[in-house]
Amino acid sequence: MILGVNVDHVATLRQARGGYDPEPATAAALAILGGADGITAHLREDRRHVNDRDLRLLREFTKAEFNLEMAATSEMVGIAIQTMPDLATLVPEKRKELTTEGGLDMKGDFRKISDAIKKLNGKAIQVSLFIDPDEMAVERAAKAGAQMVEIHTGYYANASRKNALEELKRVQASVALAKSAGLMVNAGHGLNYTNVKAVAGLPGIRGLYIGHSIIARAVLIGIKDAVREMKGLIAEARAGFTG
Ligand code: PXP
Repeated sequence: MILGVNVDHVATLRQARGGYDPEPATAAALAILGGADGITAHLREDRRHVNDRDLRLLREFTKAEFNLEMAATSEMVGIAIQTMPDLATLVPEKRKELTTEGGLDMKGDFRKISDAIKKLNGKAIQVSLFIDPDEMAVERAAKAGAQMVEIHTGYYANASRKNALEELKRVQASVALAKSAGLMVNAGHGLNYTNVKAVAGLPGIRGLYIGHSIIARAVLIGIKDAVREMKGLIAEARAGFTG
């Protein structure tokens, strides 16, 4: 099973101050050293975190699978064709949302989504659709001509203890249905160090796509080393060491 690491949150931290620190592309290189099988970045219409420069650098740095998350708009299709990711994942996009809130509207946006798939496939870019764990969405994803789906695990991740098993079963049933429709099946959203095992244990899943929990964990486990390094520099200066 592959793990795609989403580096949007590194870009969000960079945007808090502007400038270049931390670089999502550096985070991507380190994630790959850590064993990530792929890197994901979401270029939003308002460029609130990942920007066009990040995409160019990420494409260059990511020899593993580079997954571009994007809305099914003509601007984004054009950018994808220039960038040539290994995979384009179509997601719905609302300007004010904190993160992608739900799966694609496979009914209302069916035409727009199938047109985007045709254009991307025409340039040899595989397409995955981020969909809710429901039957209609899976069936329409297959009809739209996608190669893959990513089943939204956020409902499971955010469910109360009482409802978690039921939500997990919805994910499981959607994975099985998508497989039987001939689609490759991924899953993602809201997965973390406590809930990942239940999803990773489901049969038929090709890959998991995880962002927030990994970057949040990296911030915490990296703090001791970062402070130690800064203390070392201060101590060297105080000792009159300038080399
Ligand atoms: N998959 C998709 C389609 C997403 O939009 C996101 C969030 O950017 C993720 C996976 C990763 O979600 P999380 O950051 O909650 O791990």
